[in-house]
Amino acid sequence: MSAKRVTFGSKLGVILATVGCAVGLGNIWRFPYMVGSNGGAAFLLVYILCILFLGLPVMMSELFIGKTTHRNTAGSFKELAPGTKWKYIGYNGVLAAFLILGFYSVVSGWTLEYVFQALTGSLKGKSVADFTNDFAAFSSGVWRPIFWTALFVIATHVIIICGVDKGIERASKVMMPVLFIILIALCIRSLTLPNALVGLDFLLRPQLDKINSSVILSAMGQAFFSLSIGMGCLITYASYFGKDVNIQQTAVEVAALDTLVAILAGVMIFPAAFSFGIEPTSGASLVFITLPNVFEQMPFGSLWSFVFFVLLALAALTSVISLHEVVTAYVLEEYQTSRKKAALFVSVGIFLLGIICSLSVGAVKGLSFFGMPLFDLFDYVTAKIMLPLGGMFICIFVGTHIQKRILKEAMTNNGTVRFYFFNTYVFFVKYIASVAIGLIFINELGWVDYICALL
Ligand code: PHE
Repeated sequence: MSAKRVTFGSKLGVILATVGCAVGLGNIWRFPYMVGSNGGAAFLLVYILCILFLGLPVMMSELFIGKTTHRNTAGSFKELAPGTKWKYIGYNGVLAAFLILGFYSVVSGWTLEYVFQALTGSLKGKSVADFTNDFAAFSSGVWRPIFWTALFVIATHVIIICGVDKGIERASKVMMPVLFIILIALCIRSLTLPNALVGLDFLLRPQLDKINSSVILSAMGQAFFSLSIGMGCLITYASYFGKDVNIQQTAVEVAALDTLVAILAGVMIFPAAFSFGIEPTSGASLVFITLPNVFEQMPFGSLWSFVFFVLLALAALTSVISLHEVVTAYVLEEYQTSRKKAALFVSVGIFLLGIICSLSVGAVKGLSFFGMPLFDLFDYVTAKIMLPLGGMFICIFVGTHIQKRILKEAMTNNGTVRFYFFNTYVFFVKYIASVAIGLIFINELGWVDYICALL
């Protein structure tokens, strides 16, 4: 199977496609409202620690698995550990990708609605209350969100059927640089607003007493979600890496750029929100209410709104592509079908799941389980449970199942590049990452309090 597999065409293509996978709504939509509702800079601090000590080891391990096997996320475990239950890590990933796509494609659709509204000038002249009410009315409606979700899924589908190099790589090469330029322009705009420093203070000056177990779990979940790890997305992308791609360097560059984009998104949003007196704790609607509101009070307001929502849509698209590819590669390889058929099957599935998630936000009240609309439930279950658990098992797998010699050969491209911290990496994978992730869970589930009470 590996013989006829395509690879990304260039090193730049590898980085941009992988950064495109990592950078998405997670950085620009989810990260700011997580920071806002988890105490500001304290969350950011824990988040960065999670990226460094948990995210990077998991990321390198995933890249190793993908690049070594050249298989999809489930197939790669079948190859490295034939006849064992390790393949369930891969199945967990495929399922997680599908569930994430359910709510992610809906939010992606929302970005298109706002691109449209900015273009037609309908965001002009609204008050904060108008923005809040209009967003609630739109997102809990029936047809409009479903229409935009459909459009987004179709766009993704077209890129996916063009293939890895001609579709994914080419699209990322154009979209990622544009995204960086727009983001930096918006940061400058936000920082030059009156009172911008209060927002910057909220983002960057940690109040350590705000850190608690729920903040830690949220930060860990956000780190996994943002880096696209724990579910085999990077296994799938690394399966398209050529021989000379350097795993360590790729992991460090992607993690650094992803974190940079998240922080820049914070720099863009908080000064603006504080400057206009908008609460940073407004949850999932934060960017959809805060930013258009801010922009529309400035000269050329609709232009800024338009630029921002195009940015959000581009970021979403490159990530949706990667999630789609996880499932498509799995269906294509494990069921030996054509890319076109596999992609169609996945696109239809995402669309149906998207409809259900979209309706659960308000139009159909019954679509709630465990006290959460399906939209929130899928977000919670994937980011806070499936990805960290997946990451933990990936570490345990690499730590116990892969010979150190083989790991080192892969990490150093057969000794041609140096890996100064190889033993530290192995130590982290074997002991720190897996134990820490496990402990964070046990703590959040309330078991630590329970055991302390027993003692
Ligand atoms: N990392 C993406 C984002 O930040 C979301 C994602 C999660 C993509 C998992 C792929 C896999 O938006």
